[in-house]
Amino acid sequence: MSNKDKDVMIRTREKSLISHKRCHALQSLLSLFVICVLVFNCFGICLDSVQQQKTVLDPENENEARLNRLQPPEKILDIVGVSAGMKVAEIGAGKGRYVVQLAARVGNTGKVYAEDIDAEALDYLKDRCERWDLENVEIILGEATDPRLPQGILDLIFIVSSYHHFDDPVSLLRKARGALKPDGRLAIVEWIPWNKNDDEGTTPQEMEAEMNTAGYQLKRTESLDVAKKLNIYIFWVKDHQNLI
Ligand SMILES: C[S@@+](CC[C@H](N)C(=O)[O-])C[C@H]1O[C@@H](n2cnc3c(N)ncnc32)[C@H](O)[C@@H]1O
Repeated sequence: MSNKDKDVMIRTREKSLISHKRCHALQSLLSLFVICVLVFNCFGICLDSVQQQKTVLDPENENEARLNRLQPPEKILDIVGVSAGMKVAEIGAGKGRYVVQLAARVGNTGKVYAEDIDAEALDYLKDRCERWDLENVEIILGEATDPRLPQGILDLIFIVSSYHHFDDPVSLLRKARGALKPDGRLAIVEWIPWNKNDDEGTTPQEMEAEMNTAGYQLKRTESLDVAKKLNIYIFWVKDHQNLI
């Protein structure tokens, strides 16, 4: 073999060694990339699952989240005085934004009667209670002027965001009175309208007059200054002994 041939052979070997090393380095880089992608993905999934670990008290959608910011459940239920063991009915419970809060507060020794006239909303609420294993909630499909509540056993009738939706609040709440114990209370959380054209709410004067006609006496009013003025009215039943 001539010197020239040897030289060519050596160069060819060197070239193949270099390309082999490059190939190896590329493979290592690729493996590192794949490992990084896997680790980041796994981290993302873990983060997602932490973020998705919701509790029964969390709002189920953006609308509920918005309403809970305006009508903070903890604050309102503290003002109303909802505690363990109480028997509470919510009239106009809808899809249960507040039912879950009430159920958590009264606990297993208490009970929540969730009433509405909207069967579809109550179907959603039934599913919500099953998803969260809420065994202390009973769902009641009422009528426009009869909430069909159990008689004489409730510590509290609670209404939030619903009063101005009732067609005939006087008849509805007159009928509801008999469900309260002698020292039971009616708590109504209701917006104060901005002006005469604002139909989302009730003036304090109208509220007191209507509930007086329905057989209640106002004991206390608390106000929360949120986006709009929100009042929390606490009523007692007048002449309870004549009701049941
Ligand atoms: C704006 S939603 C409020 C639902 C729930 N309280 C909340 O804050 O998420 C008003 C609810 O009042 C209910 N409602 C209207 N008239 C009613 C009546 N006469 N008796 C019971 N519920 C009634 C509606 O069906 C609706 O579910």
